[in-house]
Amino acid sequence: MTTYSLDLGDATSEVCQPPFIACAVLTMGPGDIRELLRFRTPARTRTARRLQRCVTIEDLRREASRRWPRGVRGYVDGGADGEVSLDRNTAAFQNFDLVPAALRDVSIVDTTCDLLGFSSAAPLALAPTGYTRMMHPDGERAAALAARDAGLPYALSTMATTRLEDVAADVGGELWFQLYVWRDRGLTRDLLDRASAAGYRALIVCVDTPVVGLRVRDAHNGFTLPPRLTPGGLLDMAMHPEWCLGLLRGAPITFANFVDGVSNRSESVMEFAARQFDASVTWDDLHWIRDRWRGPLLIKGVLDADDAARAVDVGANGIVLSNHGGRQLDQAIPPIDVLPSVRDRVGDHVQLLIDSGVRRGTDIAIALASGADGCLIGRPYLYGLGTAGAAGASAAIDMLVSELRRAMCLMGAADLPALKSGGQTFVRKRLAASNHHYGRTPI
Ligand code: FNR
Repeated sequence: MTTYSLDLGDATSEVCQPPFIACAVLTMGPGDIRELLRFRTPARTRTARRLQRCVTIEDLRREASRRWPRGVRGYVDGGADGEVSLDRNTAAFQNFDLVPAALRDVSIVDTTCDLLGFSSAAPLALAPTGYTRMMHPDGERAAALAARDAGLPYALSTMATTRLEDVAADVGGELWFQLYVWRDRGLTRDLLDRASAAGYRALIVCVDTPVVGLRVRDAHNGFTLPPRLTPGGLLDMAMHPEWCLGLLRGAPITFANFVDGVSNRSESVMEFAARQFDASVTWDDLHWIRDRWRGPLLIKGVLDADDAARAVDVGANGIVLSNHGGRQLDQAIPPIDVLPSVRDRVGDHVQLLIDSGVRRGTDIAIALASGADGCLIGRPYLYGLGTAGAAGASAAIDMLVSELRRAMCLMGAADLPALKSGGQTFVRKRLAASNHHYGRTPI
C-alpha cells in the first residue's frame, strides 16, 4: 500500500484539521495537489518497513518487544529487585533544564572526540551486554558491525554468546573487552590474554557484580541458558515464529568465551557462570590486572568519588560511572547524579564515561555538559538489534547521534569542547519541588 504525507510546511494545528484539509483539497487543481502531496515510497523489505516506523529509541523498543518472547523482553528491559534504579536512571536525565546560548555559529556541528586514544565519531560507545544472540541471531557480530560502521567503539562482554576471536576477525573496528574477575583466576587470565592477542585495544573491568543482582522478571519467566522449555514458554515461542526460527537456525546459544570451563555437565552454563562471580575481589586484583594488561584500562561500575580516585591511583585510564542499567544494586544512585562530584575529585586528565538511562541525544549533551567525556548505551542498541539486526543497531546509533547533533545546534555548541566548557550555563539541575513536571517516577 502506498502511504503519503501532506506537507503543509509550518502550518498551525488549526490548519491541519481534517475538515480544513478536505476543503482545501477540493478547491485545488491536479497540479496543485501533486505539488502538495509528497508520496513516500514504501520500503522494500519487511525489516526496512519496520525501521521506517521508528523515529526514537522508544519506537525501537516497541518494535523489538513485539518480536521477542516474554523471557527475552524481561531480560533486556528488566532491572534488579523493585526496579527503582531502572526508573530513576531515565528520570534523572529529565531532571535537568537546558539553557541554550543564542546566536552562535552552529552551521557545522562536530561530534568527534577522543575516547581512550581512539578518534571516535561521537562521544558514544556500545556497552557490553551478555546473551546478545538471544536478541538477534547475528548478536555480537551485528552490534560490532553497527559500531564499526558508525566509527564508535564496541565493548564485548565476558558473557558474550560469540567468541571474542570471531568478532575481532569477522568485524574488527575499535574493540574493547569487558572482563569479570572470575573466581577461577586462571580462566580470568586466559580471557585477558586472549582479548589482548585478538586485538582488543582497551579493557573494561566491571566491579559492580560481586554477586548477580536479583532480576525478578527473569525469575518469574524462568529465563535460563540453555533455555528451559515449559508449556507456557513453548506457547510464547510459537507466538514469535521469526525469533524462534532465528534461534533454531543459528549455533546453540552459549557463553562462547568460557564454555569449555563448564566441567560439570549436571549444572547449566548459567549456574556455572553464576558460581564464577567472585565476592572476594578487591583492589589488589586490579593491581594484578593493571600489571598484565598493557592497553587502556577502564573501571566500570564505580559510583563514588573516592573509589574513582582510587581506581586512578591503581592505574586506570578512565572510569565508567554506571549502576549496570539498574540491574545490580537496586536504588543505586543514577550515575548522572554523581558525575560532577567525581569529575571534581579526579580532575580533567581522567576519562569519565557514563551509562545507565541514556535514551536521547539530549541525555548525552547533559552528560557532557556535566563533566563526562562520553556515554555508553546498553538497551538502546539491543532494541535496535531486536528490531532489525545490524541495521537496527545502526538505526539506534544514528538516532542518538543525530539527536545529539540537533541538541548541540539548538543549544549553541558547535563542538564538544564548547559543550563541555559551557557546563553550568547549558544545564541546570531542577529543584526537587519542580519534579512533578517531568518523568515517570517522582524522585
Ligand atoms: C548489561 N550490562 C552488562 N554489563 C557488563 O559489564 N557485562 C555484561 O555482560 C552485561 N550484560 C548486560 C545485559 C543486558 C541485557 C543489559 C541491558 C545490560 C550492563 C551494560 O553494560 C550497561 O551498563 C547498561 O546497559 C547501561 O544502561 P542502559 O543503557 O541499558 O540503560
